[in-house]
Amino acid sequence: MRKTLIAGNWKMHGNLDSLESLVSGIKGQLDNSWQCDILVCPPFIHIDRTIQLTKGSKIAVGGQNLSEQDQGAFTGEISGDMLKDIGSKYVLVGHSERRSLYHETNDLVAAKYAKALEAGLTPVLCVGETLEQRESGTTMDVVKAQIDAVLSFYQDNAEGLEKLGQGVIAYEPVWAIGTGVTASPEQAQDVHASIRQYLSEMNEAVADKVQILYGGSMKAANAEQLLAQKDIDGGLIGGASLKADEFIAICKIAG
Ligand code: G3P
Repeated sequence: MRKTLIAGNWKMHGNLDSLESLVSGIKGQLDNSWQCDILVCPPFIHIDRTIQLTKGSKIAVGGQNLSEQDQGAFTGEISGDMLKDIGSKYVLVGHSERRSLYHETNDLVAAKYAKALEAGLTPVLCVGETLEQRESGTTMDVVKAQIDAVLSFYQDNAEGLEKLGQGVIAYEPVWAIGTGVTASPEQAQDVHASIRQYLSEMNEAVADKVQILYGGSMKAANAEQLLAQKDIDGGLIGGASLKADEFIAICKIAG
């Protein structure tokens, strides 16, 4: 049985004051009887402080990106080892904003995925299609190519699948991110089931094990229907994760 993971991607938002109140708002309403895992991903500069503020709670902290390089002369970059060293547990890789705004290719994302595992972090591989790709019926072509890049980073598919099973996948239709236009539960479930089916054709155990989160305008109002879907194992939440009450409401629904 896969655990539910509710993850907040804070993107480039907040300052020390706002994060203190956000974290205390989340901590103050957390019910430790809830079974879901909870993750927040602050901007790099606030990860350490967030880890300090969440110490002793069930809230894990992660990064939003990492370098595909080891430590060295890479000005402005942050390595997986650095994230791990300060206590990060997860790291997002290949978020659509990294792919579109910072030109991260499938191969670069795969290299970041591998570096995250090497550093002892759990990578969250973000996949998803644009509206144009959906309307042209190529959603699963796009998503499979994003997954295949990770598989082919490794010696063979067997190793690649084993590594994919150590991470998390987040399906984030680009047209639903930050737009308030959420995929319907059926649309989301359809892609989640197709991803699981694709993996199952190669390795049933990995397909059963891997958590597939939905991201794209998930809110408290739509979380119940989305999280009720068989192949949706949680959410990767942007805007709604910046409001403690809204984020907690989603965690409560996940239970
Ligand atoms: O990574 C999660 C994010 O892309 C979703 O953003 O604001 O649509 O929940 P939002």
